[in-house]
Amino acid sequence: MPVSQSQPEKLPDSLSGKRILLIISGGIAAYKSLDLIRRLRERGASVRPVMTAGAQAFITPLAVGALAADKVFTELFSREDEQDVGHIRLARECDLVLVAPATANIMAKMAQGLTDDLASTILLATDRPVLLAPAMNPKMWSHPATRRNRQTLAGDGIGFIGPGLGEMAESGERGEGRMAEPLEIVAAVEARLFAFKPTGPLSGRRAIVTSGPTHEPIDPVRYIANRSSGRQGHAIAAALSRLGAEVTLVSGPVTLADPKGVTVVRVQTAVEMRDAVLAALPADIAVMVAAVADWRVADVSGAKIKKAPGEGPPPLQLTENPDILKTVGHHAQRPRLVVGFAAETDDTVDNGRLKLARKGADFIVANDVSAGSGVEGGVMGGTRNRVTVIGRDSEESWPELDKDMVAEKLAGLIASRLD
Ligand code: C5P
Repeated sequence: MPVSQSQPEKLPDSLSGKRILLIISGGIAAYKSLDLIRRLRERGASVRPVMTAGAQAFITPLAVGALAADKVFTELFSREDEQDVGHIRLARECDLVLVAPATANIMAKMAQGLTDDLASTILLATDRPVLLAPAMNPKMWSHPATRRNRQTLAGDGIGFIGPGLGEMAESGERGEGRMAEPLEIVAAVEARLFAFKPTGPLSGRRAIVTSGPTHEPIDPVRYIANRSSGRQGHAIAAALSRLGAEVTLVSGPVTLADPKGVTVVRVQTAVEMRDAVLAALPADIAVMVAAVADWRVADVSGAKIKKAPGEGPPPLQLTENPDILKTVGHHAQRPRLVVGFAAETDDTVDNGRLKLARKGADFIVANDVSAGSGVEGGVMGGTRNRVTVIGRDSEESWPELDKDMVAEKLAGLIASRLD
């Protein structure tokens, strides 16, 4: 799934004084690391490069060192390097360790705690935040072993940016595995450094938020969707982040800017959204705001379905999508606080209460999305909302508010509940 990071309004020196230890491991995407070094330095960061043996098969230490304006470290047992700085100092004398590209191999070594070269030794020795930008063949990324390693690493507090969806360097290969673009990685570095600041009542908490619609393909050009704009979900992700939470926002297709300080995982379909949410576990908080399509087409056509004169419309066989909220609400790694939304056109509160029980949520935020709701501009796609927050033994109706205010109040309620 395409993944990107938030794009905060950046000052040219947004990383001023920050020391990034950049580990380049051996993948074809290493060529993008050269541009990444420039982008990081443009924003005021200093970049100290470490290259694995594999990386040196793709790009040269000479080019990396020239762009970083620093020595390139490659050897674990180099007398010269050890006298100079040593691997423990390399691991500690930085504000963040960034691995870009991160290969399946380096992820596997990290998940196991293996140390057979300088890069893997640094990764085990560091006490700094670590961010990985994976890049590999789609089959390797979707392999159960890599998925297990990714989950283990996420559980260890390692951050991820990407990979995205698209063409691979190998001709004819397409799928999920492309390294995130340098600017996306820069934004992830900013978000990671920002999120590590111990401020706000939710600092140290991890939150997953879903937002927007899902698009369920019929054929390569057509899809089933709904009218969700993502405004409410995005506003909630931003509000949780402002209170200090480390937020992963799993978003369907929307036209909104990424909220500041938030890791954004972009998906198209409900199945992709479910996978991204489960990959982001464990978390303390889950707020499922996305208007997930209830059904998808059972047999997606690989080619555009043609209009045949006289034959009438094609039959569409639908199948049920996974219920992400219900899955999370009953998951072995269920977050401590699970919040769902209920967009209803009638009996809003009664239906919300039923959903609370059925989906295993702690709160359901019920909103009336009917044309007669009286909310200015309509709730679906609009900027205002009027909600009733239904808890297991509580019910609170809020007045009509901007979605940003609803988000602010909900984040406050979540913080007070977790306290
Ligand atoms: O059942 P209904 O779609 O009304 O439930 C709404 C709530 O469930 C929202 O929080 C929505 O994000 C979530 N949901 C989900 N996966 C689905 C359907 C709904 O997470 N397939």
